[in-house]
Amino acid sequence: MLLPPLQPDFAAEVTGTDLAQPLTPENLAALKEITARHGVIVFRDQKNLSYDGMRRFARLFGQTSDCASITNLDAQGNIRDRDDRDSRHARGDTVWHMDMLTLEAPHLMGFLKAKELPASGGETEFADVTQAWQRLPETLRDKITGLRAMHSLDAARRRAGLTDPADIANQYKPTSHPLVTIEPFSNRPALLFGAHTSHIEGMDTAESGQLLEQLLALATTGALVYKHRWRLNDLLVWNNRRVMHRVRPYDLVKERRFLWRMVVEGERPPAYLRKSA
Ligand code: OGA
Ligand code: MN
Repeated sequence: MLLPPLQPDFAAEVTGTDLAQPLTPENLAALKEITARHGVIVFRDQKNLSYDGMRRFARLFGQTSDCASITNLDAQGNIRDRDDRDSRHARGDTVWHMDMLTLEAPHLMGFLKAKELPASGGETEFADVTQAWQRLPETLRDKITGLRAMHSLDAARRRAGLTDPADIANQYKPTSHPLVTIEPFSNRPALLFGAHTSHIEGMDTAESGQLLEQLLALATTGALVYKHRWRLNDLLVWNNRRVMHRVRPYDLVKERRFLWRMVVEGERPPAYLRKSA
């Protein structure tokens, strides 16, 4: 059953659907449509959904890649040291971001299933970058249409107050993307930027920094944000061209948080180029 949107026009909750069961063609079509329309979908009570089952569901949307988990636990299930390599990686997720903008073809979708949760904190927030675009003043839209931005891991790490060992830092080379793209499920314009965005091409550093801050402030306010308060066995699906996201802090050294994770591969984001005049 589809409940009313959690925020106007985006983020929806589905209850009473067991994704571990084979879906009828009608249910499948409906679920795809809901996912495409709402950008963020919460499927409650997916206790029976295995990691393979999650992959089967994700494959309905495209080619999948396993990312196994997002967690503060090590392979033995013990809480990791706050500063070990994987913990530092996960701490980068606390800054508003879109996944893997350092790739020529960033992921199209993300999937998380909650296996262990902290007593407080650790919510995931999503901000709708298609509605953000619609709400921008026309002068600002015209100003940014046609611009391109560079994205690097280094920029994301600096925003999160972290530095990486060279082998991680050098893994991804900086990548350029249009600042305004077309969200492929609805073909609507959407902003494309986040923690990885180092600067806007052809703009001086101060102006570029100011513009990115202005866009972030406009994109992450009020009804544009959905805060997901996790329950065990939630499966959360997001469209990585439609929303930015971040995890809220929790006690990394006392609490346990473990979510299965998977992504669907995407295409190179096209530029949206139409000016209003
Ligand atoms: C991610 C991510 C946030 C979270 O998996 O890409 O940013 O809440 N996760 O763990
Ligand atoms: Mn992420």
